[in-house]
Amino acid sequence: MWDYTDKVLELFYDPKNQGAIEETGEAGVKVATGEVGSIACGDALRLHLKVEVQSDTILDARFQTFGCTSAIASSSALTEMIKGLTLDQALKVSNKDIADYLGGLPEAKMHCSVMGQEALEAAIYNYRGIPLATHDDDEGALICSCFGISDSKIRRAVLENKLTSAEQVTNYVKAGGGCGSCLANIDDIIKEVQQEVATSLLNNNGVKTTTDISTSGKQKPLTNVQRIALIQKVLDEEVRPVLIADGGDVELYDVEGDRVKVILQGACGSCSSSTATLKIAIEARLQDRVSKNLVVEAVSPLL
Ligand code: FES
Repeated sequence: MWDYTDKVLELFYDPKNQGAIEETGEAGVKVATGEVGSIACGDALRLHLKVEVQSDTILDARFQTFGCTSAIASSSALTEMIKGLTLDQALKVSNKDIADYLGGLPEAKMHCSVMGQEALEAAIYNYRGIPLATHDDDEGALICSCFGISDSKIRRAVLENKLTSAEQVTNYVKAGGGCGSCLANIDDIIKEVQQEVATSLLNNNGVKTTTDISTSGKQKPLTNVQRIALIQKVLDEEVRPVLIADGGDVELYDVEGDRVKVILQGACGSCSSSTATLKIAIEARLQDRVSKNLVVEAVSPLL
């Protein structure tokens, strides 16, 4: 018997926002859906968002899920959490936020919170017309053939949840939970991510870049032109080289207040880990180097 919190049980026995949202042609409103998982793998979630176009705000959210107690509670929690948020605010909701809202999930059930986060991202990317592959045809190297999980998905789970063992990875994304033949590869990925994090911490602590001066708080505030120039410089010098080495690239499209609009190119534009790329590699770097208020969003190259 799993040790569920009262909140998990409450949302399982009496789920909020279950069902679909139909497109009714209402002016100024659009409906987007995001789908993750597969019934063959044991869990599937379809998330529906009703978005007010002008304000980019989620007016309503509903879900249809096939899964266990945790999957239903996580999906229901997610819909409660995101109503009233803008799409950019919703993109900041992590799987940990979903688990926290529920008062925690058994670790073996954390993959349900990950599924919620992925469905949310899929729905928002669909709304914005940005391709987002499902995990089944993810462009990263396939690591776990039992569950169709790529290295990019494992890397993201390890990084965002600070996972340290293959068993934890299984709990969060299911990889390794079948025949077990991929467990050694998962261990290797964990070590690689830990090494990359350690190297990046070392670089950030040990090397003052030319742009650090802008965040010291002792300088005069940047003008808008200086700010855009600094964003472009950070992208050119610190972000693009990493993405290009990985077969992708990023182009600065526009800056509106604190919203930095970029176009992801190459592997980044069609890869399911592009959301992670955006949030971790680009947004975090720009927040660190330019302003902690910046929010990065990908726009369609067709704009
Ligand atoms: S290949 Fe990953 S569990 Fe079988």
